[in-house]
Amino acid sequence: MKIMSVFGTRPEAIKMCPLVKEIEKQHDMESIVCLSGQHREMLIPILELFEIKVNHNLDIMRPKQTLTTITADILTRIEDVLIKERPEIVLVHGDTTTSFVAALAAFYQKIPVGHVEAGLRSGDKFSPYPEEMNRTLTTRIAELHFAPTENNKSNLLKEGITEGITVTGNTVMDAFHTTLKENYEFQNELLKTKDLTKGRWILLTAHRRENLGKPLEQICEAVKQIVKNNKDVNVVYPVHPNPAVRETVENILKNQERVYLTEPFDVQDMHNLMRRSYLVLTDSGGLQEEAPSCGVPVLVLRTETERPEAVQAGTVRIIGVETEDIVRETEVLLHNKTAYEQMAMAVNPYGDGKASCYIVEALRKWGQETLG
Ligand code: UD1
Ligand code: UDP
Repeated sequence: MKIMSVFGTRPEAIKMCPLVKEIEKQHDMESIVCLSGQHREMLIPILELFEIKVNHNLDIMRPKQTLTTITADILTRIEDVLIKERPEIVLVHGDTTTSFVAALAAFYQKIPVGHVEAGLRSGDKFSPYPEEMNRTLTTRIAELHFAPTENNKSNLLKEGITEGITVTGNTVMDAFHTTLKENYEFQNELLKTKDLTKGRWILLTAHRRENLGKPLEQICEAVKQIVKNNKDVNVVYPVHPNPAVRETVENILKNQERVYLTEPFDVQDMHNLMRRSYLVLTDSGGLQEEAPSCGVPVLVLRTETERPEAVQAGTVRIIGVETEDIVRETEVLLHNKTAYEQMAMAVNPYGDGKASCYIVEALRKWGQETLG
């Protein structure tokens, strides 16, 4: 069975590489990797770490790309690749524009689609934007749905999807086998030189489209106040290369004492830093899955989440994007030991780290039933 995995952004790569490695191990499967190129330099260290052989790269990234240019460029360029390779199935991941457009392009060629990380829903089509719509539309197209949790499966059932669902856990837990290390030595110059056991370290990431502009300004103002009020607190912020993010962040936070703005970390540095952080402030989806399993509290800089599992378990809290809310909620965790300890327990609703194996098994079963 020829299986083509299509991905293009950082989180897709982190979560698809363990699956690609698993497919490569199978004697009855052929793995083809097609990058959309939606992200460029942020993908390189991930592909190197997992030693992924790339067969096709659509190389679409341009500065300040819009949803329209990403969509049009992928749709146009992937057609030839699908026709040339003619895989039995195309695998896409999650909710990016790469995922949705690759699924649509496969549908146009009547090639079945398997959706990894299926069934996440916030219930608001504009938040996260455009991800909620991307994943909902991908569900309509897909034949196979690999849902990380039972809750994700029930979201699919509510939408009338009754066949092809397998609950697998999240492949990010599989990625941890490669990235997390007990006596890890950091690669990044800043992390090499700082003593992370001195003071308290907050890891911050913020880049979502719906937070660009005023919300991101409010987040940065909150960070300024938090470090001003708390002299033992350091904030590390690996800044997304999007110029719209960089402009705001540098305007407000550049040269602030104990605020370290850096280039994005490679995923090994990132996961090992996260594990050693006091808390995580983020608008990222992936960090809401990763930090809880390391026992690190997460305050989410959004007004909703499609990942309610760790919220229910008590290790993730949604705090929005107002400056005073961010300062107040962060300071509760800095000053109230009981509140901190209640959130700092290790919780892992995302499986046993073998999601890739379960996906491969489901693919094999599907292949035997439909292809003979
Ligand atoms: C995309 C996804 C989002 C995902 C995020 C992960 C969509 C619509 N958005 O958003 O769901 O959470 O990736 O990070 O699919 N850039 C570079 N180098 C890179 C990557 C990006 O310079 O390696 C810059 C480019 O100027 C680019 C801009 O960042 O135009 C924005 O990239 P884009 O993929 O459009 O948006 P993200 O916010 O990264
Ligand atoms: N990440 C990383 N380096 C960084 C910031 C994030 O490796 O500097 C990882 C993070 O650990 C997680 C993924 O990138 O695995 C999350 O990506 P992002 O926040 O861009 O996307 P989202 O999860 O919100 O879709």
